[in-house]
Amino acid sequence: MASLIDGKAIASDLRTQLSADVAGLVKDHGVKPGLAVVLVGEDPASEVYVRSKSKQTVEVGMESFKHTLPTETSEQELLDLVARLNNDDTVHGILVQLPLPNHINEGRVIEAIDPAKDVDGFHPVNIGRLVAGEEALVPCTPQGCIILAKSAQADLTGCHAVIVGRSNIVGKPVAQLLLQENCTVTIAHSRTRDLPGLCATADLLVAAVGQPEMIRGDWVKPGAIVIDVGINRIPAPEKGEGKSRLVGDVKFDEALEVASAITPVPGGVGPMTIACLLKNTYQAALRIQGISELDC
Ligand code: GUN
Repeated sequence: MASLIDGKAIASDLRTQLSADVAGLVKDHGVKPGLAVVLVGEDPASEVYVRSKSKQTVEVGMESFKHTLPTETSEQELLDLVARLNNDDTVHGILVQLPLPNHINEGRVIEAIDPAKDVDGFHPVNIGRLVAGEEALVPCTPQGCIILAKSAQADLTGCHAVIVGRSNIVGKPVAQLLLQENCTVTIAHSRTRDLPGLCATADLLVAAVGQPEMIRGDWVKPGAIVIDVGINRIPAPEKGEGKSRLVGDVKFDEALEVASAITPVPGGVGPMTIACLLKNTYQAALRIQGISELDC
């Protein structure tokens, strides 16, 4: 039976540490990190995320700037706001919540963000730095995955890591980070041959496909570490008519019997994303102000 990797507790520890770091930065350097979050339109899921981000930003002692724009905002108006935030010295991190309305080109907006303030780590400059192994702002969910995997096994050197999913937001950056941890990395996807057989060779299995409970227990190598990035809402008639529940990309009950450690959904990777966003904002503030981490 696997042990559970408690993302909620690990994220909470990270925020506690960050609160102390932020307090030190304010006291010793007079710098209060500021995070600007931009939401265009009225997507209910995005509204929940943005509210959560703003609340946790304030809780760790940082400044939160929330910009809510109507759906019909033009791309140029959004680019103008990003330019203002780029030039605002009180703003150290900029996050434009995705998805954006269809009439706005996401790539153009992401590229307009100052890479030094790109706390999502989505700007091509930060992607390039990550791949080159240089100092970068690293995407939040992938960072969370690494912290959780290392909580189960501090040294991942030599592990065969199989990542199921090749998205720019999770699969590809996780692969880069695991390479930096000295894993042998395989990225699998919908066209991979014999996916179950490949997964069964993984010492570390990262599931990021967005398919509810696709990865079955017999795909998991005995003793493997399983990191489930999926957050899928499925009908749960057993809870009552019209009810639903959240599941990951892994069939949890089955994998629990085989793995050595596994993240639950909810309460695994999910809580880590915002914690890492706050960490990125703190780091962006240090770098923009030219303060070494050693001075904090
Ligand atoms: N929408 C869902 N997740 C994210 C995220 O991590 N960053 C941004 N900008 N938008 C999102």
